[in-house]
Amino acid sequence: MTDVTVNIDRLCRELEQLATFSDAEPPAVTRVLYTEPDLKSRRYLKRLCVEAGLAVREDAIGNLFARWVGSDPKAAVVGTGSHTDAIPFSGRYDGTVGVYGGLEAIRSLHAAGFRPRRSIELLMFTSEEPTRFSLGCVGSRALCGALPPDKLADLRDKDDQRLKEVRKAAGFRGDLADVRLSEDYYSAFVELHIEQGPILEREDIPIGVVTAIAAPSAMRVTVDGEGGHAGAVLMPSRKDALCAAAEIILAVEAAAKSTGSPDTVGTTGGCRVHPGSVNAVPARVVLDIDVRDVRLEPRDQVVRAIQTTCDDVSRRRGVNAVAEILNADPPATMATLIVAAAEDACTTLGLQSKRLVSRAYHDSLYMARLCDVGMIFIPCRNGVSHRPDEYAAPEAMKRGVEVLALTLAQLSTG
Ligand code: GLV
Ligand code: MN
Ligand code: MN
Repeated sequence: MTDVTVNIDRLCRELEQLATFSDAEPPAVTRVLYTEPDLKSRRYLKRLCVEAGLAVREDAIGNLFARWVGSDPKAAVVGTGSHTDAIPFSGRYDGTVGVYGGLEAIRSLHAAGFRPRRSIELLMFTSEEPTRFSLGCVGSRALCGALPPDKLADLRDKDDQRLKEVRKAAGFRGDLADVRLSEDYYSAFVELHIEQGPILEREDIPIGVVTAIAAPSAMRVTVDGEGGHAGAVLMPSRKDALCAAAEIILAVEAAAKSTGSPDTVGTTGGCRVHPGSVNAVPARVVLDIDVRDVRLEPRDQVVRAIQTTCDDVSRRRGVNAVAEILNADPPATMATLIVAAAEDACTTLGLQSKRLVSRAYHDSLYMARLCDVGMIFIPCRNGVSHRPDEYAAPEAMKRGVEVLALTLAQLSTG
């Protein structure tokens, strides 16, 4: 199976259409779980999958499955896909290339006359991004059982709405207990994604074959101080929650820089101040913190440092700073069989490839708990992601889809 013709114009048109489903002005994209743009994008994808002759189903939280039934329909399935939700003011390519590129890979295999033995299934995961529920990979965590039904039901967004209710309002009913997939559902899962880093572009290599995904952790720090009138409360008697939070933010940076590992990163990406008025002393601050490394030990060292800083700042400033660990997941190793299949595909296509570690997390991190998993990376301009100027060239996407198609073909035959 070497002769696939990827219709890159069609893929680009579809990604362009998808980018119109957004709550931000172009070129930025904002597509948050169960908002109108998310629901429109789901309807659009469903239509394209049906047009491609795929059998579509959705589970109780909106994970979308579109299956090309193989000649052995009972055999464990080969999956591919990614996400189409987008963090506020981000770009067009993160996740979407894996979903629409996955669809294009299936269409091009079909057009080339290929007939799979194992069914090939496109999967669009619900809420890979943590925007709504402060937890990334909600869909894939639920699919692999890392997020049991009761915890899934009880996830709360910033307006204190629970997932079990908002998913119903979005049209997803069904039993949350049915979301989890059995361990023999997939034989393999492959995700195509932009690199979100600079290596492939810098080294002029068209394909990255991922060997491992870094270990992410998310924390929420709540600082309770004492509010009051900005003119009337004199400095010696203040318990300013924002000043305390500022110390914690700087401690996150310092801890991430001091592990001795070049791969440790620490980010305070969210800061909500209550009451948020220029003439009121901040009474409460909530910080959203993200810590990662490819190894657990340096990542956990930073997590511990943040907890210690909260205790120290509380004592010194008379506030109450509490650090909650929202998730602390181990890294995942990609299956050698899939690494080999992707590298074979590159050889067949005459494309150079390089093995890489993924510093961003992906649904593949959780799919690896269900089955053999692999990821294929393509370069993106200047390594930029989670920004409106995120960009992947059509030629880069075309190569990625070709490699994906051949990898799926090989896995679906085995
Ligand atoms: C995924 O979007 C991540 O934050 O790595
Ligand atoms: Mn992302
Ligand atoms: Mn992504």
